[in-house]
Amino acid sequence: MRVLSGVQPSGALHIGNYFGAIRQFVELQREHDCYFFLADLHALTSVHDAARLRELVGDLATGYLALGLDPARAALYRQSDLAEIPELTWYLSTATSMGLLQRCHSFKDKVAQGVIPNHGLFAYPVLMAADVLLVRSDVVPVGRDQKQHLEVTRDIAASFNATYGCEVFKMPEPLIHDEVAVVPGLDGQKMSKSYGNTIDLFGPEKEIRSRIMSITTDSTPVESPKPKQGSALYGLLKLFAPAEERAWIEGAFADGGTGYGEMKKRLFGYYMATFGEARRRYEELRRHPEEVEAVLASGAKRARAIAVPLMDEVRAAVGIR
Ligand code: TRP
Repeated sequence: MRVLSGVQPSGALHIGNYFGAIRQFVELQREHDCYFFLADLHALTSVHDAARLRELVGDLATGYLALGLDPARAALYRQSDLAEIPELTWYLSTATSMGLLQRCHSFKDKVAQGVIPNHGLFAYPVLMAADVLLVRSDVVPVGRDQKQHLEVTRDIAASFNATYGCEVFKMPEPLIHDEVAVVPGLDGQKMSKSYGNTIDLFGPEKEIRSRIMSITTDSTPVESPKPKQGSALYGLLKLFAPAEERAWIEGAFADGGTGYGEMKKRLFGYYMATFGEARRRYEELRRHPEEVEAVLASGAKRARAIAVPLMDEVRAAVGIR
């Protein structure tokens, strides 16, 4: 089975990214032929600062490798290293109706939020279709918010095949990873960069500690039992705690006598036990950006081995060259 997914570089990786997606990618690479890429062309729809974009892409690649993405198994590449992607995007664009894109929630939501859309943002789902179709992916793991974009990919593939009376593209299936526990942010809402409530995976230990110490709690006195319902701290403790510590957590909330400060210190300990090793690898890789570059170059080569012959078929189908 061929698996593909893309991640848009949009800021520091946080634990919501790990439990929501990266952990599944690391699992999937064991059994399947995996292609993961850094969607820098997509990022251009909102990032217009060259130095910033380069930094975001480098940090993201470094983070994925540190967290266990294994380049011997999965291909990791930069979207912009495949010139075939924008070329395919154009062919697909001419087989995509305006109406299909006008119905996309993600676009409509951004406009409703007051974003002045550029054409790239409107065409975003077509670029995404090119990513997916170019390597003939069978399965695309994405969050629920991207489900509609995958449906659009399938519509575009079908429309292209029908327009040219061919079967160039394979129909990809979405793999929605939402059975994953929602990771609560510092304030108890879903952890998300746009809410400013994240706990990062990398960066100075001191900052991580102070973020954890700033998790919102209520004013229950130390000696009283603590409510679990709606508690960000409880949710995060459950997410991280090793099995043998779960009973301690339940007891600390149910019995009283343990202050929130002490619980937060435990949480910091679990965080370090979970990510300490990845954090060390991250620092190590940052000292060797040439290794990250080499991984991306070989990932692009593997993706192009599929993309190049596919593009010959696509060009033949539309009558170019
Ligand atoms: N749009 C996706 C997101 O924001 C990222 C992405 C780009 C993607 N191209 C893709 C995901 C292709 C899956 C397949 O999360």
